[in-house]
Amino acid sequence: MRQYVTITGVALAMTIGAIQAKSQETRPVYADVSRPVEERVEDALARMTLKEKVALCHGQSMFSSAGVPRLGIPELKMSDGPHGVRAEIRWDSFAEAGWANDSCTAFPALTALAATFNPEMAYLYGKVIGEEARYRGKDVLLGPGANIYRTPLNGRNFEYMGEDPLLAATLVAPYVRGVQENGVAACVKHFALNNQECERSSINVLVSERAAREIYLPAFRAAVAGGAWAIMGAYNRAWGEFCCHNERLLTRVLKEEWGFDGAVISDWGGAHDTREAAGKGLDIEMGSRLPFSSYYLADSLLAAVRRGEIAESLVDEKARRVLRLIFRTAMSGERPWGSLATREHAAVARRVAEEGIALLKNERGALPIEAGKVKRVAVIGENATRSLTRGGGSSELKVKQEVSPLEGLRAYFGESVEVVHAAGYRSGEPRYDRELPPPGNADSLRAEAVALAATADAVIFVGGLNKNHRQDCEGADRLHLHLPFGQDALVEALAGVNPRVVVVLLSGNAVSMPWLRRVPAVVQAWYLGSEAGHAIASALGGSVNPSGKLPFSFPARLEDNAAHAYGEASYPGVDGAVTYAEGILVGYRWHDARGIRPLFPFGHGLSYTSFEYGKMTTDKRSYGSDEVIRARLLLRNKGRRAGAEVVQLYASLPRSGVERAVKELKAFAKVQLEAGETREVALEIPASSLAYWDEAEGSWKVEPGEYLLQAGSSSGDLRQRATVTIL
Ligand code: BGC
Repeated sequence: MRQYVTITGVALAMTIGAIQAKSQETRPVYADVSRPVEERVEDALARMTLKEKVALCHGQSMFSSAGVPRLGIPELKMSDGPHGVRAEIRWDSFAEAGWANDSCTAFPALTALAATFNPEMAYLYGKVIGEEARYRGKDVLLGPGANIYRTPLNGRNFEYMGEDPLLAATLVAPYVRGVQENGVAACVKHFALNNQECERSSINVLVSERAAREIYLPAFRAAVAGGAWAIMGAYNRAWGEFCCHNERLLTRVLKEEWGFDGAVISDWGGAHDTREAAGKGLDIEMGSRLPFSSYYLADSLLAAVRRGEIAESLVDEKARRVLRLIFRTAMSGERPWGSLATREHAAVARRVAEEGIALLKNERGALPIEAGKVKRVAVIGENATRSLTRGGGSSELKVKQEVSPLEGLRAYFGESVEVVHAAGYRSGEPRYDRELPPPGNADSLRAEAVALAATADAVIFVGGLNKNHRQDCEGADRLHLHLPFGQDALVEALAGVNPRVVVVLLSGNAVSMPWLRRVPAVVQAWYLGSEAGHAIASALGGSVNPSGKLPFSFPARLEDNAAHAYGEASYPGVDGAVTYAEGILVGYRWHDARGIRPLFPFGHGLSYTSFEYGKMTTDKRSYGSDEVIRARLLLRNKGRRAGAEVVQLYASLPRSGVERAVKELKAFAKVQLEAGETREVALEIPASSLAYWDEAEGSWKVEPGEYLLQAGSSSGDLRQRATVTIL
């Protein structure tokens, strides 16, 4: 019997071996995951018909493009992005499919991630959002957003990483890496110069090459250098051509100069012409128009190639890029399985949220609100209870859990503090195509809130913007800088009855604050996703010491923002074109150049402790062909709490031969220090990053000279300076 089993076992093993050998013999190269991707691509391409190649180049449903069924090559499944994995959408309409297993973790909006000034947070964020995408069967995550914050009216600023190119570039690459470690492509969007929603699908952006290179493109360049597998073309035009078929942006800069080997995916409906799309760099056309065969890169492309009007080599090139994307993702041999809405993911969402919250003002010991010191806290404001993961456009999420600020504060204080709430104002239901009238009577809502505030030891006002049309929402811009729904008057009224009003603003944009002098504390808390309430309560209550820094300037008035200083031509544009007249002077660069005092400067964020900057020294070292400037200083936490400081290093060339910003962020480091601890902080600036874009020569140029380096706690609070000479 024993022998029989053994013989059978051997026979079985031999049979399996023979089958495996046979299948290895016959397994085509493209399907062999042990072979290099480029070999697989060429092998697959050689087997495909023209029709099959064209099928790769356009959507087959709202969020997927075809594979090659005859060869067993799978389709590409895509999902928004960028703050969580969007609910399942129907095959041929934008409606939610109504699945019961697609609730995700909502991560903080990208402005909040940017406010952490912490690349480690960006990596963690990417890693876990990638895990969620993977678990949900997605191959391409439509994010992160890497457009620069040019005007506080842009409805989509919350999906981006602020006004500074170095900050956005430093955070985009680890996000991309984290996502792609899951075998899911990050699709960095919207390339490029997509800085307003007003007339977003047609506006023609006219910007100098220098401003494009120095301000608007570096984050995309960093994403490509960091290995991004996909890029989304923007809706708008740049220099006269639609960005989804823009020779200069897609072919010359992205593919030829930067060596991008991934696929360019159009924004949904962003392609407008077969010949243009075929010849100027688009690889996959996506959209929501039906039927899918009517896309510019579908039947009409096939017909044009058959008629000999478009070269088949153009189609081959697109098919190569799409196949590469498929082999890197859907048909990769090394994909983890992913996970969805786990405790670990919630913990990452909370960490990012806690690190991103920025304490803008804190006087008279208003914060933290410690349990033993107050008995009754009035929480006022609609945003204290409103779901802010809904609305906003394509980044809207269906979440497994969302802790509101009111819930978070109640959980934090428990029985020790009575937490009462009144809305104080109301806005309409979330809509992103029109404004709905707010329900309720504004006067009685305000009166009720003010009466409640008068009875409390402290007031926490939770307001800001929301994700409705003309707030922080895709498809339209804000109309002004101020807080909507009568909040300014409400805050004034609250301050009139209670000296201890803490204003917590949830938004992805700067707002004006006419009541600023009347309140002791202001906290910028963004859109923080699933764990919003817990993170906010921890920061207000003091178990977390705030360390977020503003990734964009808060101007005192709209006209203090560069885009609004040149009239309509510069925003929102006239006759279909918008001229970026401020050139390189975006954000704090503009304020510096014009001596404008912002309400809160770029990089600003307070702590419950304070930091002392020791003297800064510099030296230079050579790494290969590049010289690296190193700045060192001692940082001391001189308070009684542990806390983190973001040391920011700005560079200037006072005697430059060309127009320069007064200073530019060139390096930063987030440093965690125990109470009383001192640590040496070393920051490095490659000399090549001091270059400006020389338009005449079409290249980067480092001017020799004496550069001034200034280190500080924000762009408006510089503590140490040193000079360094570049020969
Ligand atoms: C947005 C993109 C988004 C796409 C798919 C477009 O309207 O601009 O950011 O990824 O829709 O939802």
